[in-house]
Amino acid sequence: MTEEKRASAPAGRGAPARSAGRALTPLSLGQVQAPKVKRLCTGIGEFDRVLGGGVVPGSLVLIGGAPGIGKSTLTTAALANLAAAGRKVLYISGEESAAQVKLRAERLGPHALEVPIVADTDLEAVLATLEVERPDVCVVDSVQVLYDPALTGAPGSVSQVREVAGRLMRVAKSRGIATLLVGHVTKEGSLAGPRVLEHLVDCVLSFEGERERTYRTLRALKNRFGSTNEVGVFEMHEEGLVEVEDASARFVTEATRAPGSVVLCAMEGSRPLLVEVQALVAPSELVPPRRMANGVDRNRLALVLAVLARHGGFSLGSADVFVSVAGGVRVDEPGADLAIALALASAAKGIAISAEKPLAAFGELGLTGELRHVAHADRRTAEARKFGLERIVHPGDGVTTLRQALALLNSSVEEGSVGGEAASARAA
Ligand SMILES: Nc1ncnc2c1ncn2[C@@H]1O[C@H](COP(=O)(O)OP(=O)(O)OP(=O)(O)O)[C@@H](O)[C@H]1O
Ligand SMILES: [Mg+2]
Repeated sequence: MTEEKRASAPAGRGAPARSAGRALTPLSLGQVQAPKVKRLCTGIGEFDRVLGGGVVPGSLVLIGGAPGIGKSTLTTAALANLAAAGRKVLYISGEESAAQVKLRAERLGPHALEVPIVADTDLEAVLATLEVERPDVCVVDSVQVLYDPALTGAPGSVSQVREVAGRLMRVAKSRGIATLLVGHVTKEGSLAGPRVLEHLVDCVLSFEGERERTYRTLRALKNRFGSTNEVGVFEMHEEGLVEVEDASARFVTEATRAPGSVVLCAMEGSRPLLVEVQALVAPSELVPPRRMANGVDRNRLALVLAVLARHGGFSLGSADVFVSVAGGVRVDEPGADLAIALALASAAKGIAISAEKPLAAFGELGLTGELRHVAHADRRTAEARKFGLERIVHPGDGVTTLRQALALLNSSVEEGSVGGEAASARAA
């Protein structure tokens, strides 16, 4: 609960409701003048793709992310590229002093040093600057630290954030300034501030990743000008955020061929992405045993474990189970089920699935142990083939149940494509 001061009531409240406004003339949509606007390319391919092909002039984009994830780095780099392309840009830093922003810009290269900056937190001053400067694109870092002295409430409080965003929007829309708002996220991972902020802006982007890992993903939660399915993958380097264009190649070459490793053909938006799912099954002394999920949903893991026990003959009730997606990537789709199940089965048996090339898999597990089709099967298999993965287990491949998929696992063992551990396990 936050206290809000009541604004003085407009005169005439309580009088009979009669509009004194000027009547508007409706126009058919065909008559509405809409000049074709060209999107502004930030020069960061992954960022442009997530935005739907670049920043729309006059649009408001909210970029949320955990502390230190790289929001300022990404937006500074975008402004640097836009400035180099001859666009007028402005960086409004409320969180860091100009000197601190300069230190970051030095890492990012010579173009970044050409970005003009103002460091202030007073909303009136910021709005006046925007009116005078009229940049094509500006960055407000962050929307939570700007404040309107006329309002009560600390910076970042609900009323302040709502007012700040609303007034920035009015200036941005009327002057055609594309505005990138940087926003904080709460401990739970949602954007801090009122929900109305997300309704107000045109795009909500979320920058995710674990700070200790190098890979970060940018995804759109809302986009009035493009699909929300796109995902950009970045890596943090000395010289800033570097786009990972061929993420699949990275993850596949990094994939181990040890027991418990399966390559998942996932879809990240409209793009197929190969990631390695790793599982570890170890005897437990705990009751109940540990279930750790990293990069996959805990509830999905619980479901896969239950289906494995009931329909696959793998009862892991007395074992600690760890599942993780290598590289710190998060896959939130049902298509990951089969890969998780196969990784768990392989880990439980201590058998490497394939000696030379990792096994690829995708498909959803039903509660009755059947395999269900998932979207874009052709693109997933094409991506796996592209990286030389010949063995792909998926529901469209004549495999209709989990049991059949697990049998394939066993047969690959018989064929001799077995790791050393498996051979010794069998000998034992
Ligand atoms: N020299 C460097 N080499 C590699 N990575 C660096 C270097 N300096 C900083 N970083 C990375 O940049 C990150 C900080 O980036 P940035 O300031 O853009 O994050 P932010 O999301 O804006 O953070 P905040 O929430 O504090 O504003 C650090 O977490 C660190 O991982
Ligand atoms: Mg920052």
